[in-house]
Order: sequence, then C-alpha cells, then structure tokens
Amino acid sequence: MIVKESRVVILTGAGISAESGIRTFRDFDGLWENHRIEEVATPEGWEANPQLVWGFYQQRRRQLFDVEPNSGHRALADLEEYLDNFLLITQNVDDLHERAGSKNLIHMHGELSKLRCESCASVEEMMEDEHLGENFLTCKRCEGRMRPHIVWFGEMPMRMDEIQEALLECDVFIAIGTSGHVYPANGFLHTARRLGAHTIGINLDPPENVVFFDEFFQGKAGEILPLLVDRWTNG
Ligand code: OAD
Repeated sequence: MIVKESRVVILTGAGISAESGIRTFRDFDGLWENHRIEEVATPEGWEANPQLVWGFYQQRRRQLFDVEPNSGHRALADLEEYLDNFLLITQNVDDLHERAGSKNLIHMHGELSKLRCESCASVEEMMEDEHLGENFLTCKRCEGRMRPHIVWFGEMPMRMDEIQEALLECDVFIAIGTSGHVYPANGFLHTARRLGAHTIGINLDPPENVVFFDEFFQGKAGEILPLLVDRWTNG
C-alpha cells in the first residue's frame, strides 16, 4: 500500500507519547495533570491567573528532560528516511518526534521548548536552567512578558496553509494516538479521504472518527508502528 514514491501525511496526538510517560488529555476525567483544561489551556485562563498557568507549563517544560522518545516515534523517523515525500503533523507540544529524528515536522499546537513575547510576538527556544523556574521571563528584544508558545483553545493552530496543501496532495493519511475530539485536526482524516487518500488509523481505543479509516489497527503505537513500518519499508 505504501511505496517509496507515496506522498504520506501523518497526524499524531498524545497517544504516541503515552509510552514515553507523558499523560494523554482525555483519559483522566477531563483533567490534565489535575487541572481543568479551561484553567490552563485558554487565553482566558492565562488572563485570570497567569502565575498558575506559567507554573503549569514550566512543569511540563521541565518534564521534557525526564522523558525519551519511544519505538513509535523512532519508527516514524525510519519511515521518513525511506519515503521521498513525507510530512508529520503533530498536535503534541513535546519534542519527542524531533529527538527521535523526524525532520519534516509541523507542531500545529505549538512547542513547550519555546516561549513567545506577548508584546512583539518573537519566539525563542528557552530551555536553559535559568528559563525553567517559577518567575516570569521577559523578552530579550522588547522586555515584554513571555508566554508559552502553545496554541490554546480559541486560538489559531499553526501553519494551517501548509497542512491544507499537504492534505490535498497526499496518497496516504495516517492518524496515530489521537482521540479525534479536537477541531480542526479531527477533520484532516475526512478531508484526506474525501480527496482520495488511503486512510490508516492506529489507536488504543477506537477514536470518534473511526468510520473514516480504510484500515484501523487497535493497540499501542509503540508496538504496532515498528511492525507496520517494517512491512511498508521492506515490501
Ligand atoms: P487525547 O488525550 O484526546 O487522545 C489520546 C488518544 O490516544 C486516545 O484516543 C487514547 O486511546 C490513545 N492512546 C493512549 N495511549 C496510546 C498508545 N500507547 N498508543 C496509541 N494510542 C494511544 O489526545 P489528543 O487527541 O492528542 O491541545 O488531543 C488533542 C488536543 O487536545 C491536544 O493537542 C491538546 C488537547 O487539548 C492543546 O494543547 C492545544
């Protein structure tokens, strides 16, 4: 089904990082590390209690040093090596795909390793010890307050034009470890399929949009992906 020339677009969600020890969003009664999503993942939450939101993301940022990519992340990097035309779109804000070796990667919901100035919008990678404490940081250019470089609910996901273009052109679309609850990522499967792509899903539980997959593999990404990638790349 997949050959070297196939144009493949992949969408990943929290499930692919679960086996690395990062919690998913919707498996714990709607709570994310004991917080309601509205409290820590909306512009309103930031406005109401910036110190709480800052502390929450600083904890997530420090956690990146305690986790490693797993066999699922690594299998996707191997697949990218093999294919001529590959795009990985992730909803995840961790850096495990790049640490596993993925290159053509879009973080549509932002990145924990970066911060953005609220005033001038400049984005900086800030992961040194002095960037990981509880005090707010200021922008090197304009001294504005830095905020997490994360797309909160109600904000526009990043690089949507490039994503739309890739969806229009792909031959195969694969969604991995995502519950299919969050717009607009949950529409990519339907778009790709409507435009003729072959669609494949890999998830622990059947996601909301499971009916739109041509093939669905139920189980852990870290176990299923290495087998599938081996099959695809070795014929
Ligand atoms: P969810 O927590 O909604 O869904 C994770 C999915 O992964 C679930 O369907 C699980 O069954 C599945 N899963 C768990 N462990 C798995 C494993 N080892 N292998 C394969 N699948 C597994 O996470 P997302 O769909 O990524 O947004 O959530 C989408 C967005 O909602 C997130 O990017 C985040 C959140 O609010 C922002 O932060 C902006």
